[in-house]
Amino acid sequence: MYKIHCMNNIAKVGTDRLGDNYQLTDKLEEADAVMVRSAKLHDTVFPKSLLAIARAGAGVNNIPLERCAEEGIVVFNTPGANANAVKEMVILGMLLACRDIYGGITWVKDNCDDPDISKKAEKAKKQFSGIEIAGKTLGVIGLGAIGAMVANSARSLGMKVLGYDPYLSINSAWSLDRHVKHVMDIEDIYAECDFITIHIPATPDTKGIISREAIDKMKDGVVFLNFARDSLVDEQAMAEALASGHVAHYISDFANHASANMKNAIVTPHLGASTNEAEDNCAIMAAKELKDFIECGNIENSVNFPRVNLGPVTSDARLVIMHRNVPHMIGKFTSIISDFSLNIENMSDKSRGHTL
Ligand code: MLT
Repeated sequence: MYKIHCMNNIAKVGTDRLGDNYQLTDKLEEADAVMVRSAKLHDTVFPKSLLAIARAGAGVNNIPLERCAEEGIVVFNTPGANANAVKEMVILGMLLACRDIYGGITWVKDNCDDPDISKKAEKAKKQFSGIEIAGKTLGVIGLGAIGAMVANSARSLGMKVLGYDPYLSINSAWSLDRHVKHVMDIEDIYAECDFITIHIPATPDTKGIISREAIDKMKDGVVFLNFARDSLVDEQAMAEALASGHVAHYISDFANHASANMKNAIVTPHLGASTNEAEDNCAIMAAKELKDFIECGNIENSVNFPRVNLGPVTSDARLVIMHRNVPHMIGKFTSIISDFSLNIENMSDKSRGHTL
């Protein structure tokens, strides 16, 4: 029986998929695997028993990936499982930046006791008028599952779309509307776009990628949308650009002291993936990844181990060995196995960087 410790609420439809050989435990110390959403694990001491951590979501900045790799703990995420939910928020963010819907709703609430509200509304509405997104240019930085969906939806809403992604996968490329213009230089996004949305992982390398210099290069009156992570943006520079009017709106899903106090920012409390559908999809995908690894040694969608997939186990046993990426290891393992007169029917050897 494998023991799974959930560090946040994980949708039951997902944990149910684990099946009879699994039981949920409150005790991290006895867990074989962890399921997590936003709990921060950087200071968590992992038990020796821990084989894997599955993040029900895309971002993994709450997990110490390198330490996990050192300790032989495979970390998974669920790319694409919540992409539609985030995409819908991005579209909503653009609309909120263009039309003062929030101001209009607030006006109605403030005047709800006025019997003349219907007549007054017709006069009041001009203060909430705005612009349309059709015909405007959207720049998408990062064309993974979320970025590609945003790009395609924006196209169907009549926007021109520029996409930038130096690591564009074949799958994403196939999924893109053919009118999305793939630019090779991020500066083209800054120079040409009325709206810019970012969908890249938060890593030490991408920290502050939307720097003061980058913001300066954006068009006057640009709307910048951040549903990825706040650490990607130099928020001091963003606050100044908003105050000067160079950036018209900062739409951020990351409420922090800086963003919450910015002029012309529309900030939400990390709601991007907060839909029933996304939570279910992420939990199901996370459970599937854990099962496939624990039962078959297969690794799909890991962020710190290489992809390995030998399909279901069809022989007597499958042996999974994790080792540093140093010469002569495979020879040593195979010779130990042959010392036991065991036959290796099939084998896959994958590496990821120098540690694995
Ligand atoms: C993600 O990383 O998947 C989204 O930001 C939503 C979340 O963190 O749960």
